[in-house]
Amino acid sequence: MVTAGPTREYLDPIRFLTNASSGEMGACLAQTLRHLGARVVLIHGPMSAPVASGIRRICVVSAHQMLQKALVWGQRADAVIGAAAVGDWRFAGRFPRKVKKSRRSLWVRLSPNRDILVELGKRKRIFGRPKILVGFALETERLEKNALRKLRSKGLDWVVANSPASLGGSSIRMTLLSADGRRFRYPALSKRLAASRILSRIAGEAS
Ligand code: CTP
Repeated sequence: MVTAGPTREYLDPIRFLTNASSGEMGACLAQTLRHLGARVVLIHGPMSAPVASGIRRICVVSAHQMLQKALVWGQRADAVIGAAAVGDWRFAGRFPRKVKKSRRSLWVRLSPNRDILVELGKRKRIFGRPKILVGFALETERLEKNALRKLRSKGLDWVVANSPASLGGSSIRMTLLSADGRRFRYPALSKRLAASRILSRIAGEAS
């Protein structure tokens, strides 16, 4: 199971909070897994990158919807890769009608969303599934230190550390860190090549 793309949190029927993710990294991972012979389910938000045929797609909008689908599919999966740029916050209240600009000011409150990988990490510990849990870490500072913290706090086997430059772009500069202390740094790669590097490391047949 792979998650991909951004999520959207609506303020009213028109406006939403989101991010610049194109979904390409997740789509490339799904496609490469498919080429390797895996049965792949891709749970994704509203994304612009194309998805190859032969991949089961589950379209969601909000982080909560993604969580619900990921819990169902993740517990059956051998491996889960969380490549989605999941929104950390949602509006505490959603307006049922369009908010008019005649309001002189607008205060909004945000509530935190549950973390999908944390929830899957708990299930992995208890039920042994998914067997492999991989996450991404998008960091503007202390890349490897923060990524390692995420790896531990979410119970991941691997984390792909990268910077916001990769969000929505066609290439990624990444460092791959494993729970057993291995570290692999890569130069900027196309997302397709990055997907095959990540998967060959995870499969233990590193090139
Ligand atoms: N993630 C998730 N559920 C969330 C938020 C993030 O599963 N609600 C996953 C992402 O898919 C990614 C990993 O957690 O694989 C790290 O996401 P990132 O945005 O780098 O970090 P956060 O955990 O959201 O923490 P912070 O924003 O504080 O850096």
